[in-house]
Amino acid sequence: AEQKATNVHWHEGDITREHREKLLGQKGATLWFTGLSGSGKSTVAVELEGMLHERGVACYRLDGDNVRMGINKNLGFSAEDRAENIRRIGEVAKLFVDSGQIALSSFVSPYKADRDAVRALHDEAGMDFIEVFVDCSLEAAEARDPKGLYKKARAGEIKNFTGIDDPYEAPEAPELHLHSDQQSLEEEVNLILDLLRERGIVT
Ligand code: PPS
Repeated sequence: AEQKATNVHWHEGDITREHREKLLGQKGATLWFTGLSGSGKSTVAVELEGMLHERGVACYRLDGDNVRMGINKNLGFSAEDRAENIRRIGEVAKLFVDSGQIALSSFVSPYKADRDAVRALHDEAGMDFIEVFVDCSLEAAEARDPKGLYKKARAGEIKNFTGIDDPYEAPEAPELHLHSDQQSLEEEVNLILDLLRERGIVT
């Protein structure tokens, strides 16, 4: 998004991300879960949050429905609103990384350009951005239909529903590609923990 305000200047404090990371004894990062509604993004993030918390790693979960009830309550599901949804969440995730924490972000985030913009935001700041594709066939997600939304979308009661009458652009090179319709929750979380270990984010 374009910056509207003029005459604004970044105010540098004395305490930096490095100081905060040292205080917490960890390294900040964003884990970005993307996938269809019902693919299990939130389930994986919740499970992982528990495991990290147990290991003494400070993390914070940002989740679609929750964020859309608060900071993004003025946004719907048009392509423009989804882009703005993801842009704001990307900025919020970055704040958590700057605070030294692990942001666990689960949003459908169906557009590659929106996800890449969040990645670029992190890259520019020298922050880790780990894209986790929670891949699940439409058939499996629709069969789960935990909130009954696919049923409504098929009946034409919800328009622009991802996977039904709105696109999902799968990541081309995610850091991790999970198959939630074939792997167990435990397998998925272990794969993520392995990756975090490889990257020195958890020990
Ligand atoms: S997005 O595309 O990233 O901005 O979407 P997100 O903020 O993750 O919100 C997705 C959740 O909202 C519900 N929902 C819809 N999803 C997709 N398309 C449409 N039109 C839609 N309408 C409502 C749905 O429950 C999604 O929740 P999850 O947890 O992903 O199943």
